[in-house]
Amino acid sequence: MFKRIGVLTSGGDAPGMNAAIRAVTRTAIHGGLEVIGIRYGFSGLISGDMIPLKVRDVGGIISRGGTMLKSARCPDFKTQAGQRQALKNLKQQGIEALVIIGGDGSQKGAFYLSEMGMPVVGIASTIDNDLPGSDVTIGVDTALNIALEAIDRLKTTASSHNRAFLVEVMGRGCGYLAMMSGIGGGAEVVAIPESPCDPEFIAQAFQASHERGKAHAIGVIAEGAKFKAVDIGAYFEIHQARIGFEVRVTTLGHVQRGGAPGAFDRLLASRFGYEAVNALLRDEVNVLVGIQQGKITTTPLSAISHTKKPLDLQLLEMGRILSI
Ligand code: ADP
Ligand code: F6P
Repeated sequence: MFKRIGVLTSGGDAPGMNAAIRAVTRTAIHGGLEVIGIRYGFSGLISGDMIPLKVRDVGGIISRGGTMLKSARCPDFKTQAGQRQALKNLKQQGIEALVIIGGDGSQKGAFYLSEMGMPVVGIASTIDNDLPGSDVTIGVDTALNIALEAIDRLKTTASSHNRAFLVEVMGRGCGYLAMMSGIGGGAEVVAIPESPCDPEFIAQAFQASHERGKAHAIGVIAEGAKFKAVDIGAYFEIHQARIGFEVRVTTLGHVQRGGAPGAFDRLLASRFGYEAVNALLRDEVNVLVGIQQGKITTTPLSAISHTKKPLDLQLLEMGRILSI
């Protein structure tokens, strides 16, 4: 039975991380554990930037975006020296187990720590939804809603001017956010890394929409797609007469990660945090807490740390048909 646990948030922040910190802290204290918050993700593990967390310290954060513990990308943690220093600091602070809230990179880090003998439980959290072991991760729903709101707004101005918009959304190497916001936003075309297409493919889709009498067209381009939205926009400038629409490019960027978490992410994060501590209390360690087929699950970190999450590409075809 552990006495003192640590909790950290790592990688890109995601709306709902605070709700997970709150759930971890309060469930742990309820279970008789002490909680130490590690600031700035793995960087804080290496530098020893840690603060005790009590019940009241996590009050009022469930509705706030970002992470009260701060987050960071930490290249040093990918080195053995960095990992050894982290382990040393954890031992010095008497931290016997760690909850790591983050995406696929963070969970790889969690796996390596577990291999070095530190018991860990991961919580699936990234707007990219590229983490195996969870159908959906903390932050995705809020980020999707932000993208949809932007697309809805762009559509109104697009149809006033008979324009097409290329909307670039985040997701790193994963097309999930682009595909889902494309379907939910009624986009005419979606470009994602998993199904590469060139600017001419998108030009033809827009041209066909124009010929069918549409007053606007939307293309959602994943940031990791083969061609960036600005490059496709430049191609469109040359071929505008044929395509029929004037084109504008909007890059959503970090707007998608900011702001308050929606209901879905608050609830998901609360359930993940609660389950992560309960897993520790029953001595089930070195697992990732996620949700699969509607149920909260734990999956060994060893099973997910070297696998890629598949994307259901049939949904692309569905989106195409529905946007006719
Ligand atoms: P996310 O967790 O959101 O996917 P990153 O991929 O940036 O974000 O990963 C967050 C951090 O996790 C990295 O900055 C690094 O400290 C750690 N990390 C990522 N990959 C590895 C790895 N292969 N080995 C050890 N640590 C890693
Ligand atoms: O992993 C989340 C994410 O927002 C990705 O979608 C994006 O590629 C990346 O982080 C941006 O990273 P940063 O915030 O370090 O610029």
